[in-house]
Amino acid sequence: MSSIGIDAVEIWSGNLELDLTTTFADEKGDDPEKYAKGLGLHASSLPDAYEDIVTMGANAAQRLMDRKELAPEDVGRIDVATESSFDNSKPVSTYIAGCLEQVYDGDFHHANKGERKFACIAGTQSLNDAYNWIRAGRNRGRAALVVATDTALYARGDAGEATQGAGAIAMLVDEDPSLVALSPEQGYGSADETDFLKPNQQFPSVDGKRSIQVYLDRMLEAGQQFETQTSSVHPTDFAYIPFHTPFPGMVRKVALLGFRHTVRGTPMEEHLADDIGLQPRETEFDDRDAYEAAIRDYMDDLRQTDEYEGWYADRIEPTLALSRKVGNWYTGSVHIARVSALLDAYSAGKDLAGDHLLVGSYGSGAQAEMHAETVMDGWQNEIRQLTIDDQIADRHDLSFEEYEAIHDVHNYDKDVPRTRFTTPSSEFVFDGWGPMGERQYRFV
Ligand code: HMG
Repeated sequence: MSSIGIDAVEIWSGNLELDLTTTFADEKGDDPEKYAKGLGLHASSLPDAYEDIVTMGANAAQRLMDRKELAPEDVGRIDVATESSFDNSKPVSTYIAGCLEQVYDGDFHHANKGERKFACIAGTQSLNDAYNWIRAGRNRGRAALVVATDTALYARGDAGEATQGAGAIAMLVDEDPSLVALSPEQGYGSADETDFLKPNQQFPSVDGKRSIQVYLDRMLEAGQQFETQTSSVHPTDFAYIPFHTPFPGMVRKVALLGFRHTVRGTPMEEHLADDIGLQPRETEFDDRDAYEAAIRDYMDDLRQTDEYEGWYADRIEPTLALSRKVGNWYTGSVHIARVSALLDAYSAGKDLAGDHLLVGSYGSGAQAEMHAETVMDGWQNEIRQLTIDDQIADRHDLSFEEYEAIHDVHNYDKDVPRTRFTTPSSEFVFDGWGPMGERQYRFV
C-alpha cells in the first residue's frame, strides 16, 4: 500500500499576545530570564473576545481547504482533538463543520465526526485514527481533516500561568502525502497518573513539578517500546526530533534523557568516555540512590560536551521556535514543533526529502507515544505557504490590565463585557448563544 501521513497543515494563532519577559515578569516582579531562559518562553498567544476553540479550528481548517482546493465531499472524517471542550455531548467537530458549511457549497453530511480526549496527546491519537481509517480502506478516496485546537488557560496566579497559549492546527491526512509519512511502528508509555487534570472544571489542577517527572518517565517508556520495533534508534538517525512542548525548558530535559539513553552501548558512548567517562551502570552500585546521583552527575557533564551541544542545536532547538512565541497549545503543541522544524529546514535551504523525524507526543494523565516520520518530496511547497510568522507579528500586544480583562472574558464563572482588542477580518467569530445553550458562529 502507498504511504499515509500528513498531506498539508495550516495554523491559526490566537489574535492576542502576552509578553512574558516584559509585561508578565514586570507585574510578577520576576527576573525576565526565568521566562526567556528557564522556561524558554517569550510570549503567549491568547484568544480575543470573539475567538474560541471552534473559531480557531474552523479558521485553520478553512485555510487548509482553500489552499488544497478541497470541497466538503473530499473530506471523509473530521476529528477534533481538544482538552478545552465546552460540551460533554456535542463534539466540537460538528460546530467546525457547521462553520465551514457557511462558506462552502455542499456539506459534510457523509463525514464521520468525533472529538478525541487524552490531554495533549489527543492530537496525535487523532492522526493515528485517521491513519488507521485510511489503512483499513474505509476512506474510499477521501482524506481526513484532523484539527487540534485549544485555549490553554490556567487560573490566574497558578504556576502554569506563564505557559498559557491558544491556537489551532489543521492537518489533512491522506494517502501519498506531500509533507510527512507516518511509520507503522509506535512505542507507548502509559499509566494512571494525576499530574494534570480538569475534573469537570475549566482550569486545570496541576502538580507542576511532578508533571515534569511523569512526562520524562512516560516518554522514556515509550522510547523503549519504540526501540523494540526498529533495528536501532540513534539520536543522529533523525533530522529533527519534535517533542510535545509545554514550554521549551521541558524539551531541554527530555532531549538530554533521550540522548543519554540512546547512545548507551554505542560507539558514541565510547567516544564521549574520553572526556566524561562511561555512563554509570546500575549493577555497579549498591543502592538506587547512589546510582541516580551518579547518573545526574553524568548528565551534567554530558550536557556540556560539544557532541551533545551540536546535536541539540541542529535537531532539537529549531523545533522550539514557534513554541517560544506562542506558549503551550496543548493538543497542537507537538504538531507546531514539527512545523517549526520544517520551517527551519526551509529557511536554511536544506533538502529534507527522505529524511526522518522522531516525534515524541505526550498527554498528562498520562501517556507518551513515539513514532517516526519520513519527510516527503512535496514538503517545501507545503511549508513555504504558511503564514504563521505574520500572524504572530500581527497579534495585539496586551497590557497586564488588558490581559486580566480577556482572561475574565474567557472564564466561565465570570459574566463580564466581551470587549475585544482586535477587529476580525475574513474569519469565523463567536456570535453569542442560541436557545439551547449552543454556541453560534458567523463568518465576517
Ligand atoms: P515555576 O515554579 O514557576 O518555575 O513552575 P521554576 O521555579 O521551576 O523555574 C522554571 C525554570 O526556570 C527552572 O529551570 C529554573 O531553574 C529556571 P530548571 O531548573 O527546571 O531547568 N529559572 C531561571 N533561569 C534563569 N534565570 C532565572 C531563573 N529563575 C528560574 N532568573 C512549572 C514551573 C513548569 C512547574 C509551571 O510552569 C507549571 O506548573 N506548568 C504547568 C505544568 C507543565 O507545563 N508541566 C510540563 C509537563 S506536563 C505536560 O507537558 C502536559 C501539559 O501540556 C498538559 C496536557 O498534557 O494536557 C501541561
